[in-house]
Amino acid sequence: MCNGDGSGLILGIESSCDETAAAVVRSGREVLSNVVASQMALHANYGGVVPELASREHLRNIVPVVHAAMAQAAAHQPGLTFADLDAIAVTEGPGLAGALLVGITYAKALALGLGKPLLAVNHLEGHIHAVLMESAQREDAPMPLPLLALVVSGGHTHLYLADEHPTAGWHYRNVGRTVDDAAGEAFDKVAKLLGLGYPGGPWIDALASHGNPRAIEFHFAQIKPRAPRPGIVNKKAPVLPSAGPTFDFSFSGIKTAVLRYIQAHCMSAAIEARRTSLAKKPNAKAADALPLCDAQTLDLIASFQHAVVGNLIRQTFAAVEEFAARNIVISGGVAANSELRRRFAEEAARRNLPIAFPSFALSTDNAAMIAAAAWPKFLAGNFAAEGLVATPQLKLG
Ligand code: KG4
Ligand code: ZN
Repeated sequence: MCNGDGSGLILGIESSCDETAAAVVRSGREVLSNVVASQMALHANYGGVVPELASREHLRNIVPVVHAAMAQAAAHQPGLTFADLDAIAVTEGPGLAGALLVGITYAKALALGLGKPLLAVNHLEGHIHAVLMESAQREDAPMPLPLLALVVSGGHTHLYLADEHPTAGWHYRNVGRTVDDAAGEAFDKVAKLLGLGYPGGPWIDALASHGNPRAIEFHFAQIKPRAPRPGIVNKKAPVLPSAGPTFDFSFSGIKTAVLRYIQAHCMSAAIEARRTSLAKKPNAKAADALPLCDAQTLDLIASFQHAVVGNLIRQTFAAVEEFAARNIVISGGVAANSELRRRFAEEAARRNLPIAFPSFALSTDNAAMIAAAAWPKFLAGNFAAEGLVATPQLKLG
């Protein structure tokens, strides 16, 4: 299945949102290169990702990023060229249509030109495999299954029950998702409301430690269980527990509650002054915002973060109990949050459950996770069809 030397080299390509990324990973485990060209600075000017600009930047970056990933991999394995790759893996979705198209078109052309197989990867599956790959690098013992994965980023807040079948590969069941905003989106929108920079998560994370997390109490709506979604049944996949309560999230209410608090406490003038002051500083960071925030603002930030993390913990551990998950995996950009990591780790320890987070480098979008998720598909011979297209609303499980 692999090349004669059994190298198992996969080139992963990721372009679903605002990061153009390429990586070479051996056997889903050993990262030979991991290159990410972030467009964050470009989109920061607009306070969010502008889809057309993202596509244009991907087009500009894709060739140099892939070449840089190949060069970095060759530094690990001298003489390595495109001819040594066993397969090309690319993000199929979910994501921005125009952004996905750049990676998919490039990957298809490369696979065709090299005569290599193409593997299509769900971006959310990639986030889960970032953690599985790093865990495999650390320990020899495989993770106890089934695992409960929380994928929490700027575009997604999903809970998956995941299991692995010896020949059919990984199987996922979506047991919870946000019914409106993603958690990362709430961080970004609240940071914007408070005159902080983009993306908002790291700003709020850094400033929250200076406020009182119990100063303001935020409440979350109880989400009604949804009807089961008809899906494709994989007969070879292991049978997971059947439909029960769902563990959905809603984060648009807390954003509105923060806005109301700002209005009720006449904070708008101070926010505008902070926004103007930070706009004048090139590459402004949270440390620049700290002297511009009064105690009330810091309490609001700390209370917001405390409430969001508390909600993620409640839903995740309720799902863990319901499905008797034996292991927890947290991934996606918001998994970089320090309070989230601390409180999830404490709660897991209290319940004597193993929990794993990605390294900070693999929390946010990257292509090593795409190459890692592609490895079991490669072993199962689960290659992409010739007509592979971008699927912006692609579901997992
Ligand atoms: O996974 P990612 O890079 O891209 C998406 O697939 O969305 O996640 C980006 C999101 C942004 O919303 C950002 O604000 C959030 O992750 N984020 C954080 C932190 N670092 C990044 N949220 C909270 N705390 C952080 N430290
Ligand atoms: Zn992501």
